[in-house]
Amino acid sequence: MADQYAQSGEDIRPIDGIPPEAVDIPAIRWEEPAEGPVLVLLDQTRLPAEEVELVCTDPQALVQAIRSLAVRGAPLLGIAGAYGVALAAARGFDVEEAAGALADARPTAVNLAYGVRRAREAYRSAFEGGAGDGARERAAAAALSSARALHAEDAEASARMAEHGLRLLDELVPGGNHRILTHCNTGALVSGGEGTAFAVALAAHRAGRLRRLWVDETRPLLQGARLTAYEAARNGMAYTLLTDSAAGSLFAAGEVDAVLIGADRIAADGSVANKVGSYPLAVLARYHHVPFIVVAPVTTIDPETADGASIEVEQRAGHEVTEVTAPRAPLAGVEAGGGIPVAPLGTQAYNPAFDVTPPDLVTAIVTEWGVVSPVTNDGLGELCDSSLQA
Ligand code: MRU
Repeated sequence: MADQYAQSGEDIRPIDGIPPEAVDIPAIRWEEPAEGPVLVLLDQTRLPAEEVELVCTDPQALVQAIRSLAVRGAPLLGIAGAYGVALAAARGFDVEEAAGALADARPTAVNLAYGVRRAREAYRSAFEGGAGDGARERAAAAALSSARALHAEDAEASARMAEHGLRLLDELVPGGNHRILTHCNTGALVSGGEGTAFAVALAAHRAGRLRRLWVDETRPLLQGARLTAYEAARNGMAYTLLTDSAAGSLFAAGEVDAVLIGADRIAADGSVANKVGSYPLAVLARYHHVPFIVVAPVTTIDPETADGASIEVEQRAGHEVTEVTAPRAPLAGVEAGGGIPVAPLGTQAYNPAFDVTPPDLVTAIVTEWGVVSPVTNDGLGELCDSSLQA
């Protein structure tokens, strides 16, 4: 039933209310119709061709939506995970089981496990602290408040990262008029607010200091072409799309002032896991003396993961590489994506979803609590300590 939900298309509906020029993109929202609470997602596998919503009535449908990348991007995965626990609680599913399935849906973005843990702990402590009638309802309400708090905090963090990031950009690249290269998608589609790296570029645009946003298409699932270009267009930014492999010649031509990317997990030593293709950009940036800036909320820093080698990198199905299926990404569990084959039948593919950039290639990490530069174990530790004290 749950799987059909994500795959059959029966329960998707066009979005009426969003004019193409709207800046707000409601990537996720909680609704409480008479039939019971639901989690409504903007189905990112369908963008930019169609703006359709995916309505999850149970945690398994959300797990499927996470795996298929209908909902994606580290901060949003955290928010989705927290709402998923709230949904399980509100609809009477086994909360522990749902929390486990949600946290395991994708391994690399630490925010997912964080969001799930936070809502589950809120649920548990309300449940354990309140015996008698209504304990379960109160615990469900606590899980929902926790998800809502995370959603609001992420919006706030996004605004702070944009401020810190633009200040840093202006320092590192004096003269304004920035030409920024970005990879994957890090805007409102991945956040309660305007995102991470993209939010910095947007702040530069609003301040009249963005000359060009270079958007890597981001193979194989084209998050740059489908999603970042979509957000840049809606915001009226000057942007140009390039194939990932064109980045080298763009650097060589002196057309890039800074690279801005997000992160899925930052290890204690400052190693950064992000969408595959980020590491080659860091190498190019170093060779061409261009700042390589990572923008991520503090929830993406994982002190429990010691270094880059300890980060689990998600490996995805080979058909994402051997077929072209844009704008709709193949659904998890479907053996072949139903797209257009671009390689001989039976070709094996290497398809890691992420790569890891070592800290010495990262100029700075921008968070809502401030900037860490140089990127070291101690620098990140101090930032995390200061955020705990605040
Ligand atoms: O596989 P995805 O689309 O979930 O990957 C997303 C990214 O790699 C983003 O760059 C990352 O989550 C940072 S978003 C702020």
